[in-house]
Amino acid sequence: MNELTQEIRDLCKEKDALILAHYYVDEKVQDIADYIGDSFYLAKVAKSASCKTIVFCGVTFMGQSANILSPDKTVLMPDLNAVCPMALMVNAEDIQKMRAQYDDLAVVCYINSMAEIKALSDVCVTSSNALNIVKNLPNKNIFFIPDGNLGRYIANMCPEKNVILNPGHCHVHSTITADDVERAFNLHPNAQVLVHPECKEEVCNLADFIGSTKDIIEYSQESDCTDFIICTELGVIHEMKKRSPEKNFYAVNSYQICPNMKKVTLEKIRDCLKYNKGEITVDESLRDLADSPLERMLELGSVPERSLI
Ligand code: 13P
Ligand code: SF4
Repeated sequence: MNELTQEIRDLCKEKDALILAHYYVDEKVQDIADYIGDSFYLAKVAKSASCKTIVFCGVTFMGQSANILSPDKTVLMPDLNAVCPMALMVNAEDIQKMRAQYDDLAVVCYINSMAEIKALSDVCVTSSNALNIVKNLPNKNIFFIPDGNLGRYIANMCPEKNVILNPGHCHVHSTITADDVERAFNLHPNAQVLVHPECKEEVCNLADFIGSTKDIIEYSQESDCTDFIICTELGVIHEMKKRSPEKNFYAVNSYQICPNMKKVTLEKIRDCLKYNKGEITVDESLRDLADSPLERMLELGSVPERSLI
C-alpha cells in the first residue's frame, strides 16, 4: 500500500467512513473503494451501510441520492463539480405540462436527475431495474425522464405502455454509432457486443447483450465468449479484466470516457476526508419529497432482472 492509500485508509478509520465508487471512476479510485457497483447497488449500499460518513466517488446526483436515502450520514463528494449533464436535461415545467395532459400519468425518473426533479416524480429507476418497474406500474401513460435513449429502449420493450420520451441524452453513450460498432466487429469478428441502454437505438440493435454496468460486467464473466466490444464508458473494463484476466475487451471510439466521473482522484478523496470538505446535502423539505420515489424504486426494483434483450 502506498503512502496516499494508507493515509486515506487511516482517515476512513478515524472518521468512520466508507468509500463508494461507480464503475466509471478512475481505476485507482475503484481499487480503494469499500463498495463498487452500478447506480442501483450503490443507492442500496448508501442506505444500509452502517457508518457515519460516506465518500461518494461518482457524480453529484449519486451523492444527493445517498443523502436523501440516508440523511443521518455525512455524504462527502471528492469533487462537487462532477455533475452529470444529462441530470439537468429536464425541468419542472416539462413535468407540469405533461401532468396537465394526462390524468393517468406516471412520471418515471431515471436516477440520473437532480433532487428537484425526483421530488416531482412518482418513481425513480436505474438502468438495472427500469424495465421491471415500468412493466409493473398500473399506469398506461409513462413520462420517462430525462434520458430519451433509455426511455426509447423501455418503450420498445413495453409496447403495452404509452411511453412519452424526453429529449435528454448522455454525451458519452450517444457518441457511439453503429459504424463504430461495425468497425470494431470487423476487427474482432468473434466478439460479442455489450451495450448500455443509454446508447442510441442503432447501437442497441447490434447488441448481443444490453444491461446496466453491473449486468454487462457479470455477462462478460459468465459468457463462454472471450472477446467483447464495449459500448459504454470504459471504466467498466477494469472490473471485467479483474474478473476475467484472460479475456479481451475492445473500445469502439475514443470518446467513451465520462469527464465528470474522471474528476474524482485519490488526492481529492484524501482532502475531503482530511478537511471535511465537499459535503453534499439536500434541503430537508426537498429531501422528504425526493425520498418517496427513491424508496419506491428500492421496493419495486429489487426483483432480479438480467438479459434485457
Ligand atoms: P449504471 O451503473 O446504473 O448502469 O449507470 C450508468 C451511468 O451512466 C451512471 O451515470
Ligand atoms: Fe452522466 Fe453519461 Fe457520465 Fe453517466 S456516463 S455520469 S450518464 S455523462
